[in-house]
Amino acid sequence: MCGIIGYIGGRQIIPVLLEGLRRLEYRGYDSAGMVFLENEEIKVIKVKGSVFNLEEKVYTELPYNSKAPGLGHTRWATHGEPSENNAHPHLDCEGNLALVHNGIIENYYELKESLIKRGHNFISATDTEVIVHLIEDYVRQGLNLKTAFMKSVKKIRGSFAIALISKKDPQFIMVAREKSPLIIGLGEGENFIASDIPAILPFTKKVLFLDDGEIAILYKDRVELFNFEGEKIRKNPVCISWDLALAEKGGFPHFMLKEIYDQPEAVKHTLLGRLDLDSGEINFSKEGLTQAFLKDIEKIFIVACGTSYHAGLVGKYLIERHLKIPVEVDLASEFRYRFPLIDSKTLFIAISQSGETADTLAGLRLAKQAGARILSICNVLGSTITRESDLVLYTQAGPEISVASTKAFVTQVLIFILLVLYIKKMFYGESKKDMILTLIKLPSLLKNFTEKVHFEIKKLAERWYRIENCLFLGRNILYPIAMEGALKLKEIAYIHAEGYAAGEMKHGPIALIGENFPTVVLSAKETGIVYEKTLSNAEEVKSRRSPIIAIISENSEEFKKIAESYIEVPSTHYELLPILYVIPLQLFAYEMATLRGCDVDKPRNLAKSVTVE
Ligand code: G6P
Repeated sequence: MCGIIGYIGGRQIIPVLLEGLRRLEYRGYDSAGMVFLENEEIKVIKVKGSVFNLEEKVYTELPYNSKAPGLGHTRWATHGEPSENNAHPHLDCEGNLALVHNGIIENYYELKESLIKRGHNFISATDTEVIVHLIEDYVRQGLNLKTAFMKSVKKIRGSFAIALISKKDPQFIMVAREKSPLIIGLGEGENFIASDIPAILPFTKKVLFLDDGEIAILYKDRVELFNFEGEKIRKNPVCISWDLALAEKGGFPHFMLKEIYDQPEAVKHTLLGRLDLDSGEINFSKEGLTQAFLKDIEKIFIVACGTSYHAGLVGKYLIERHLKIPVEVDLASEFRYRFPLIDSKTLFIAISQSGETADTLAGLRLAKQAGARILSICNVLGSTITRESDLVLYTQAGPEISVASTKAFVTQVLIFILLVLYIKKMFYGESKKDMILTLIKLPSLLKNFTEKVHFEIKKLAERWYRIENCLFLGRNILYPIAMEGALKLKEIAYIHAEGYAAGEMKHGPIALIGENFPTVVLSAKETGIVYEKTLSNAEEVKSRRSPIIAIISENSEEFKKIAESYIEVPSTHYELLPILYVIPLQLFAYEMATLRGCDVDKPRNLAKSVTVE
């Protein structure tokens, strides 16, 4: 939530900030702002709404002598409504200091009260503004800016990534991190800060990841690192392998559509290095997943949020079926407060595209403290969750920009498939060669299927885009996919949707459905006995006059007879069903959303990376 970009160096500051903000807009987009030096003065430009509005305003005001250092911010409001006044940056009383913030300051109220008593003048409703006045207060007491910054950082509580510039000290930017992500991009004679990698990809791929409790002072030609005690620390930069083109729309109208079409490549990259073509086996040993790591595991917890949680539910079906280890899947926000029973024989699996989701991270820390082994399935190299895990299996989906997650989900599910194949071979000596062959062909299968089904889904969306309610039903491994289909439709098309276990439908949702309340039924012959059970559920739906949109295996003649529309999915292995069945649902939500005029990549009130509780 909220995106921060900052720059110090010789480039034109405004294009760098705008470029960074455009790439961070998925983190929040209800207001935006930037600050830089203009004729040695602090110049602030802020708007309500998107970065596009900011860009218009910047070019209307035409600052002609703008200079680094500068900071940019795109906001997802927590304290104070989205407005120009509450947009960041925030200034001190004298207009010497400008600060941007991502996170929540929990003790802001008491700090604000005492700063007001000490004569500070607040003009916004944000929690952020207290930080800059606190720093100013210490400077008024005679401290130099660096010491004032360090003292303030120790006094504020909550989650924060903050960045500060000063017109009196234009030779540096100061930043601090506590429970909110912040990275430093290292260039030649220039340095960057950002909330996430895509913002700095056009400029540098050399990155330092700040950890909680760390401060950095960025000069043009160097970066100094400290802990909150003011002691100098050292860390090594990491080189990011992501290609800039992957963070661009590449001719597609939206990132979401591009990312759906990226899925075959994402699958190919996730298989690469794990699928040994010579032996025909999966191998995770290079990543540290050994018998020793998994020894004596008696129970698995999978913890995640949003779409990643649905991948976790798929994981449960796969692990319990193949490895016979009990699995509990929890929403991270519930897990962290429910006193789960964890010990050293527990394997904790965190799933997160961003690696920064606050609840998932909190769950991970709780499990770690209780002695569990921590494995994470993550997409962003060097993100906080990866750094705090004992072992990381990266999804190689490349940068995912659209708020609605697509290719990350498909690759998370793929990791679970590879994981069970690998562990099955390692512990029980069992290989599934036929499935390995299918995996090799999976990228081209996905490509062909996506193109074909997209055409069919467009027609379906034209028929249904005016609905206000929709039920999604599935059983077994397709139940999480029904939930994911419903989530997608809610997130981007703003249509009320429920994802339900088909067998549970009679215990509630059946009361809702009717002529204007269609039901999407997911059914696959590969699910065995539940195929017929789902058919019975579909009959019950039809009897209540809810039109059926059936997503079915090829030649499911029984469904074709009762469905108003149907989409056929190529036959595959049971384990791969979630990957194939989710594609029409992603495209359905996308096409419905565009026909309804929704801003697909920036759905209202949502943010891609939820870094506050
Ligand atoms: C937000 C995003 C979702 C995502 C969820 C979990 O809600 O809008 O698309 O699934 O966070 O994010 P993570 O990065 O942990 O997978």
